[in-house]
Amino acid sequence: MNKIIYAFSMLFLVACNSKKDLRIDLHSFSEPHHVITTHLDLNVEVDFENECISGEARYHIENKTGHKQLILDSHGLQIHKVTSKDKNRNYFLGEKDSILGQPLIIELDKEDDEISVFYRSAPNSKALQWLSPEQTAGKRHPFLFTQSQAILARSWLPCQDSPGVRFTYEAQVKVPNDLLAVMSAENPREKNVDGVYTFKMEQAIPAYLMALGVGNLEFRELGASTGVYAEPALIEKSVYEFAETENMLRIAEEIYGAYAWDRFDILVLPPSFPYGGMENPRLTFVTPTILAGDRSLTSLIAHELAHSWSGNLVTNKTWNDFWLNEGFTVYFERRIMERLEGIAYSDMLSLLGRQDLDHTIETIGHSHSDTHLKLDLSGRDPVEALTDVAYEKGFFLLRLIEQTIGRKQFDFFLKKYFSENAFQVMDTESFVSYINNHLLNEQPKLKEKIRLEDWVYGPGIPENCPTIKSDKFKAVDQAIQSFERGYSLANLDCKHWSSHEWLHFLRHLPRNLTGKDLKKLDVAFNFSKSGNSEILNAWFLRSIPVGYKAAEKPLEQFLMTVGRRKFLKPLYEALYLKNPTKARRIYKNARGNYHSVSRETLDELIL
Ligand code: BES
Ligand code: ZN
Repeated sequence: MNKIIYAFSMLFLVACNSKKDLRIDLHSFSEPHHVITTHLDLNVEVDFENECISGEARYHIENKTGHKQLILDSHGLQIHKVTSKDKNRNYFLGEKDSILGQPLIIELDKEDDEISVFYRSAPNSKALQWLSPEQTAGKRHPFLFTQSQAILARSWLPCQDSPGVRFTYEAQVKVPNDLLAVMSAENPREKNVDGVYTFKMEQAIPAYLMALGVGNLEFRELGASTGVYAEPALIEKSVYEFAETENMLRIAEEIYGAYAWDRFDILVLPPSFPYGGMENPRLTFVTPTILAGDRSLTSLIAHELAHSWSGNLVTNKTWNDFWLNEGFTVYFERRIMERLEGIAYSDMLSLLGRQDLDHTIETIGHSHSDTHLKLDLSGRDPVEALTDVAYEKGFFLLRLIEQTIGRKQFDFFLKKYFSENAFQVMDTESFVSYINNHLLNEQPKLKEKIRLEDWVYGPGIPENCPTIKSDKFKAVDQAIQSFERGYSLANLDCKHWSSHEWLHFLRHLPRNLTGKDLKKLDVAFNFSKSGNSEILNAWFLRSIPVGYKAAEKPLEQFLMTVGRRKFLKPLYEALYLKNPTKARRIYKNARGNYHSVSRETLDELIL
């Protein structure tokens, strides 16, 4: 009998599911317009032996339409049972989609205001990277980190995995008792004997900002509201590198208003982290490859900090509106760096960004719709489809508006934009009408100059894109010319060059350099042994096509340890072009060290 009732209710659920699709975000199965999750109580255990996270995710829900079902996203999760206040609820997992995972469809009673899902993550959960001790700095303890953006949170906890669904959370996480757990929440600072840690996040966040890190971690304060977590072997270096963080926070607040997240701490991850940084609220995750020893790569911290406004406070409604997160953040990052280091410095960042953008647009094709700011990612994995366009075309549009309208007025507008839309989502269309209504319509001549819609809905780089001049880069260009004319490298006036100037230098050396030329450069500047990951990367991109021998070992070493996709993709592309067998060999050895995000990109390229 029970079985018959069950079968009928399943049929009913399936029938409900075939109604008209009102979803706003096509990258989530959830239907928050019917039932929305508002708070999460997470109680999980982290099992390093079996490489899984398991436990209970209990959600407070708000049933807006008296709907009969709650839909959560899941990817590879094993569901043990679903209850509401200890009473079982029927559920089933819908059809599998290779990108989106599976909907977890839960039958609701009218009065249900909470739902508990008992689950376990898959051993190969896409969000999780389980590191052996050898893959860490200390070599003695394992490490786990999550990477939820864009749609991977669902692979480590069932959730409505759409940027438009915000929830507060509390968590209890049990880990091996020699490790510390930290989350995108209020965090512990020290290990305790039982390995059980509790967390609280009182500001509502979307699932893509859910984050967990577990490892042999130490905490150090950087300032009153800022600090850093790292393995003991890296903690001193991290404290030195990130010494400006508190300053950055003060500067950011002066520009765009109060910081909404209480603390800004940083977690330094092992080098296999697939990104440079991830703006998990209260606890930014960063790659250790920015520990250059001279604070030269810290604009990345400014970037992740800037997301505390653009992204975490005002959030892109769907991944099609990604530029509202990243373009604003790059603009804001450079404003922070301008205040900190001067305009000559931030202009170098902008010019390097412009070079990246030109290269990306060249690769995608000038008229391709992926060069629009407003994207159409339906049917695609956002993590594969998102490019520099959102970052740098977005930045240049905002810089154009700033230049046209005037900084003072633009700042006033942005401050208001962040405060009026705090803890809400924004899509491109709403932003366009917001800026028209609050800024541009009252100045039709200036509005006409900007041509916002061409930027947002049109391809390529519009011709009114601001140009940026840099005396510093001009000096680098001159140095390159003198090198080309055969002058000795010893005469180059480069003692005070920052890593940005070196990047510009390496990117603009003539295409037809020989092994001999590279050797000369290497002897003079020691590029193959640079401790700066950006410089190493740019150097390898020059050395690979030439087959320059002395850089081969360092390249292999780099590829074996660093998992940052931004470096790996171009390096493997260049290597594959030069020597596919070698590229394949190195990749096969290194693949086990990479996060699924990097692996997926590279598998396509190489295997
Ligand atoms: N939020 C992004 C990282 C991201 C984007 C993860 C899309 C998954 C999907 C982060 O803020 C970022 O942009 N990181 C950059 C560094 C930044 C300085 C441009 C990176 O990882 O290289
Ligand atoms: Zn970003």
